[in-house]
Amino acid sequence: MKICLIAVIFFLYTAQADTEFSSIKADTNTCYRYYCKTSGQSFSKGQCGLKELSSDGRYNVYASPTCSEKEACAIGATSGDTTTYTCQSNVVTGYKWPGEKCDNSDMCNPTYSSGCKDSRCLGSGDQEECIDHNYCLPGYYCLGYNSTTKGTCQKQIETNGYDCAEDYDCVNNAWCNVTNVVTKNLCFSFGSFAEHAYVSTCSNSQNFLCSSGYCFAKEGTGHYQCSKNLTSAQPNSLPNTCDLEGQFCQSTPDEYFSANAFAEEPCACAYNQAGSLYCPLFYGDTPVIQYFTQLKKWLNSEESKKCNTIRRNSAVCIKDFWDSDNYNKLVYYNAYYEYFANIQGAESCVLKTFLTEFYEAKKAYEDSSAEILIVTALIASLF
Ligand SMILES: *[C@@H]1O[C@H](CO)[C@@H](O)[C@H](O)[C@H]1NC(C)=O
Ligand SMILES: *[C@@H]1O[C@H](CO)[C@@H](O)[C@H](O)[C@H]1NC(C)=O
Ligand SMILES: *[C@@H]1O[C@H](CO)[C@@H](O)[C@H](O)[C@H]1NC(C)=O
Repeated sequence: MKICLIAVIFFLYTAQADTEFSSIKADTNTCYRYYCKTSGQSFSKGQCGLKELSSDGRYNVYASPTCSEKEACAIGATSGDTTTYTCQSNVVTGYKWPGEKCDNSDMCNPTYSSGCKDSRCLGSGDQEECIDHNYCLPGYYCLGYNSTTKGTCQKQIETNGYDCAEDYDCVNNAWCNVTNVVTKNLCFSFGSFAEHAYVSTCSNSQNFLCSSGYCFAKEGTGHYQCSKNLTSAQPNSLPNTCDLEGQFCQSTPDEYFSANAFAEEPCACAYNQAGSLYCPLFYGDTPVIQYFTQLKKWLNSEESKKCNTIRRNSAVCIKDFWDSDNYNKLVYYNAYYEYFANIQGAESCVLKTFLTEFYEAKKAYEDSSAEILIVTALIASLF
């Protein structure tokens, strides 16, 4: 998405006049601008999009949501500055893991499962051999495996129980606080550690034992601790804007650690007519808290125990066992926050063509919310 040369030339030209400085900033934007295909444009059979270089050096993309369910709109042929997008087959082999629902053995992941029996993919049970966690049935983890030696499937360790070596050793709503010392490691509930509680690990400033989701090393001690909830810099005026694709947006800081203890997310292009730039969300922003709340509801449910430990967050497994309203809500909240920067101001035809995953999640969520409203109204009308 970079057309640096044009941006640089323009920069040299405009830099001579101070009054033009605001337009320099605007021209560093290399995002494509997205439109619905106009009735005047004629697309060939199977074509779902067109990208053209416009006279100001930026690209315009025209979308036509014509692909079938089993296809995705992907880059086809390029000729000069023009690219066509065509519907291409996108059949994902969504294999099932041990314990997940199946109609026949072909559906079960052949690496981990020996087939389908009584509508569930087979796997290793209590004390049976396993190469890693993937091989065990729901409720079990693989103990004592390494690259050369097989382990055995054992009951997952309960919340507040010993002795986990990693998160997947714990029951599906608990994570492991690996201390790497002589004392034993305990499993704790997802998101149960308060602001500034100590954690053993902190990779990419993240630890899901922390209620905020974030952690940092304390200046001076070097020990990892959970941060307070971190939000977008301007949490009350979402979406926050940014200037350059890929440049980092910073969350609010947690000064307890240091002045520059903040989380970072790369500035991203929106699929709208201006091709504007926005910051993604941070875990403390309201839409992400909504998602985490729904995720916790899943993890703490009886149904989540029917998923293999590795598959605790897998949409495929969640769909098998949770009711569709809750499932649709979870998938939509997740997509809304993941694609937050991209969807701002984007037209429905563009979303359907290029952000199909988000579009479908939103539609399923709205359809199930509408059903709930109708049912509620029907029940109310009885009284
Ligand atoms: C794997 O585990 C076995 C048994 O615990 C041990 O003897 C072996 O050294 C381990 N191998 C590696 C590569 O860690
Ligand atoms: C988690 O691990 C850290 C680092 O080892 C330790 O300081 C902390 O006390 C542990 N948390 C709990 C609740 O045990
Ligand atoms: C912080 O975030 C957590 C998890 O998303 C949420 O449960 C909690 O209510 C938030 N706390 C505040 C003070 O907003």
